[in-house]
Amino acid sequence: MDVASPAGHPARMGSEGDFQAARLTVRLNAIAANYRSYRRVAGSCAVAAVVKADGYGLGAAKVAPVLAQAGCDTFFVARLEEGIALRPLVPAARIFVLDGAMPSAVPALIRHALTPVLNSLAQIAAWSAAGMTSGGLDAVLHVDTGMNRLGLPQDELAILAAEQGKRLAGVNPVLVMSHLACADEPDNAMNRMQLSRFRQALAMLPPAPASLAASHGTMLSPDYHFDLVRPGVALYGADPQRPEGLGDKSAPNLMQTAAVLTARVLQLRRIDLGESVGYAATFHVKRPSMIATIALGYADGTPRTLSNRGVAAIDGVRVPVVGRVSMDLITLDVSDLPNPPQPGDTVELMGDSISLGEVAERAGTNEYEILTRLRRVPKTYEA
Ligand SMILES: Cc1ncc(COP(=O)(O)O)c(C=O)c1O
Repeated sequence: MDVASPAGHPARMGSEGDFQAARLTVRLNAIAANYRSYRRVAGSCAVAAVVKADGYGLGAAKVAPVLAQAGCDTFFVARLEEGIALRPLVPAARIFVLDGAMPSAVPALIRHALTPVLNSLAQIAAWSAAGMTSGGLDAVLHVDTGMNRLGLPQDELAILAAEQGKRLAGVNPVLVMSHLACADEPDNAMNRMQLSRFRQALAMLPPAPASLAASHGTMLSPDYHFDLVRPGVALYGADPQRPEGLGDKSAPNLMQTAAVLTARVLQLRRIDLGESVGYAATFHVKRPSMIATIALGYADGTPRTLSNRGVAAIDGVRVPVVGRVSMDLITLDVSDLPNPPQPGDTVELMGDSISLGEVAERAGTNEYEILTRLRRVPKTYEA
């Protein structure tokens, strides 16, 4: 429905009209189906869900309750703030905070019933001190097996193993975990090396359930499953059987498309041979052309690297992005369409015609970055 402006002209743009310039449609049923697929692959092993970075940009507040309904009882977030926001939405679930227990975070972690992933002896000491005064606190122990990013390094692991009675006083380890660096490359020797280091670490620590694999690692082999796998990006539609950042190649994606990005056409323009399109005139037309300008740009999170490389789909027919992606606009060459789109028509940038993996590959990045950057785009949810 158009909303009339005070001047009497139709005011089609803005939050009060029906014109939504761009839209990210999140298919909650697809996310739940993807979670169930992981349950099937994981067999008897439990499946947690990683919902950090606002559910990889798709909205943790909507995604997490749907996953809980699908049977997920363990969630991972990165930040304390993410855990605090998630707590009332999944009141019965375990929420593991990957950043861990910086001393200043300890009171809030306890207040909101959040379980830290302890990454160092210093974090263990801070949590142990609180645990000793409160009758014991659950924790996840994170050992670094080669990522060299977070988690107990080998020397700290040795100290913890030797002094575990003292160091873990007041701490109840509910999980021992590590993270794979190259899980999207099945033949990479790093996977087997990390698996072996993880087994060694488990033998040194008090008995507890174990977790090594995320989306891609789960697909390597059951050897990597242990007691809990913790997929993130695959739940949101990325293909866990292909290296990240590489689009569709051969076998179909086992995961369903969970995020559909669309934008409206704002204007059509017929231009002559030799004219250029967009900033810096990076694209010159080699024939008289029809250019459609759509309401999406890098301020919405669409990578600027899609300039002259991206594609869009109009009624399932692909058209190329021409010229530079600008802050709020993208230009498409729609000359080959028998029926060019009209202002207000919808164009797909990612979804059923153009996979998340393809967008990532064209942009020269990975699926994670594509999803988490789409912050300005209003989201709608399909149950
Ligand atoms: C420690 C840890 N576990 C699990 C995940 C989920 O990984 P993915 O999204 O590849 O499944 C991440 C993501 O970065 C992570 O950092």
